[in-house]
Amino acid sequence: MPAAAQPPDEVQALLDAAVDGVVLLDHLGCIQSFSRSAEQLFGYRAQEVLGRNVGVLMTDQDRSAHDGFLARYVSTRVPHIIGTGREVSARRKDGSVFAAFLSVGVVRDTEPPRFVGFIQDRTLQRRTGEEARRLQERLGHVSRLATVGETASGLAHELNQPLAAIANYAQACERLLARPGADLEEVREALREIASQAVRAGDIIRRLRGLAGPHRGPREPADINTLVTELSDLVKSDTEAHHVRYRLELTEGLPKVETHGTQIQQVILNLVHNAVEALKETPDKDRELIVRTSRSDDGDVELSVSDTGPGVSATLLPQLFEPFSTTKPDGTGLGLAISRTIIAQHRGTLSYRPNVPCGACFVLRLPSTRGGNA
Ligand SMILES: Nc1ncnc2c1ncn2[C@@H]1O[C@H](COP(=O)(O)OP(=O)(O)OP(=O)(O)O)[C@@H](O)[C@H]1O
Ligand SMILES: [Mg+2]
Repeated sequence: MPAAAQPPDEVQALLDAAVDGVVLLDHLGCIQSFSRSAEQLFGYRAQEVLGRNVGVLMTDQDRSAHDGFLARYVSTRVPHIIGTGREVSARRKDGSVFAAFLSVGVVRDTEPPRFVGFIQDRTLQRRTGEEARRLQERLGHVSRLATVGETASGLAHELNQPLAAIANYAQACERLLARPGADLEEVREALREIASQAVRAGDIIRRLRGLAGPHRGPREPADINTLVTELSDLVKSDTEAHHVRYRLELTEGLPKVETHGTQIQQVILNLVHNAVEALKETPDKDRELIVRTSRSDDGDVELSVSDTGPGVSATLLPQLFEPFSTTKPDGTGLGLAISRTIIAQHRGTLSYRPNVPCGACFVLRLPSTRGGNA
């Protein structure tokens, strides 16, 4: 083992005062000096590591990479790690591993070159970063819950209708059955109503979960055109049943977007279904629905759903995306609220503008994944 040259007292004092672990290395990466903070960080006494290769302070994987960095610098003088530093997995004497940031500098006018390494314990930062991320996720969840909280009275009202209907029909059944020679067909009809109202109530609750639940599962890059064309059969069965002409205008070569399961497709279906419903008020020959994809000026991916129906009325407009805003007798008014929440979770926006010359146009804008071309 080569003997390690001790630095002068002033330098040693400086090293010992440093908060980061400081090590001096020779051109082969052997430790020449080991500061007091490095002793605390790694659990080694300086005497135990002087003369040993710095790799003893790293995990096997980082050790081989690091050997390469120093050797390459000594032969080529092209700095890789030098002057920039990098995240490494450091290893203590007891074998435990911790996250560290290692910066390496060359000691001037030394030949062969000697190096000085600063090792910063990153455990705390990493933990803080993770906590911040968790907090952010929770905050997103809480704000969505708050939205649901605000609409609790709306929810009570919405659920009250099917529940009251169920109670009425159940009482009717009882009355019908109490009559001599009861008409079973009438009873059956009332029971069918009970079932359908119960399904409606369940549907409201199920859809509300979309607003409240934190989303799970991986995000995947997807081509927006593929997402739309996959829905073609479903959309066509809806449009053909209502005599609506359906046209796709897809821009090729769009960047990919990040999607979470089938959520984006659910949003598209919501918008298409709203358009088809709005078009019921328009004469058959003028019913047209267009789904377009394009790229916005700032590189986002856009999808619009436009129709030639009556458009959104001025009175509804301020609450258009609020839960339970509906003009339909059977609508829950959750479609757009949930769609906007989903798109926000994808870091995108969902907005409305009047269609030209008439009707409604909903525009969904999603950030493209970095460098992900279709
Ligand atoms: N394409 C459209 N043209 C005209 N009005 C629309 C259009 N899309 C939505 N609206 C209006 O916005 C309201 C809210 O739509 P939203 O999808 O949130 O709820 P809904 O369709 O009424 O009920 P559901 O929860 O069943 O979707 C609709 O009731 C309708 O008045
Ligand atoms: Mg709807």
